[in-house]
Amino acid sequence: MTGITSTPSPFDGLPSAVAGLEPPRTAFAALPAAVRRELRVDQVGELVAVRLYDGALAGSRAPDVRRFAAGHRRIERAHLALFEAYLPREARSRLGGFWRLAGWLLGWVPARLGPAALYAVVAGVERWVDGHYARQIALVRRLAPDPELLRVLEACRNDEARHAEDAEELYPDAPWWARVLAGVAVGCSRAGVVVARWV
Ligand SMILES: [Fe+2]
Ligand SMILES: [Fe+2]
Repeated sequence: MTGITSTPSPFDGLPSAVAGLEPPRTAFAALPAAVRRELRVDQVGELVAVRLYDGALAGSRAPDVRRFAAGHRRIERAHLALFEAYLPREARSRLGGFWRLAGWLLGWVPARLGPAALYAVVAGVERWVDGHYARQIALVRRLAPDPELLRVLEACRNDEARHAEDAEELYPDAPWWARVLAGVAVGCSRAGVVVARWV
């Protein structure tokens, strides 16, 4: 496994930026429809993230990869718990089973291909999620500048950016094919957002 450092993930034992945060007190139903749609996407995204790391753990026996995936998963679970506490069940995507499977495959496939593929996919997807949260934060500031909601989104964004850095640092020189795979995973994520807004 040349090229793979054994640097422990900085997420080992580290609290998430969402630690101690509560769901916003503003009722979900009181938010503008465009913001509600974005939060639906976030609940799906965090579910997919938890499942991605589940899939990675199922697909890899490498100790570094497993520690990395378990550390990130702990934080994705905290993100998901926040969105699940806030979004009423009827407001969530109806494709729960599909998202669970898709997320798992998004982690399992690269983990089977090796650490290079997994780190590249995580780096690509988490970096894209960072930008995605940034665009949402700008939208929420414009349409419903609720400080508690913004705090949740900013904390999640913070964690995602650190997840991306974590993966980039662990494997800075991913081979071309791993980068191609990461591009495909980002493409799937983009498509998932469009679907999750509406279904
Ligand atoms: Fe997350
Ligand atoms: Fe993340």
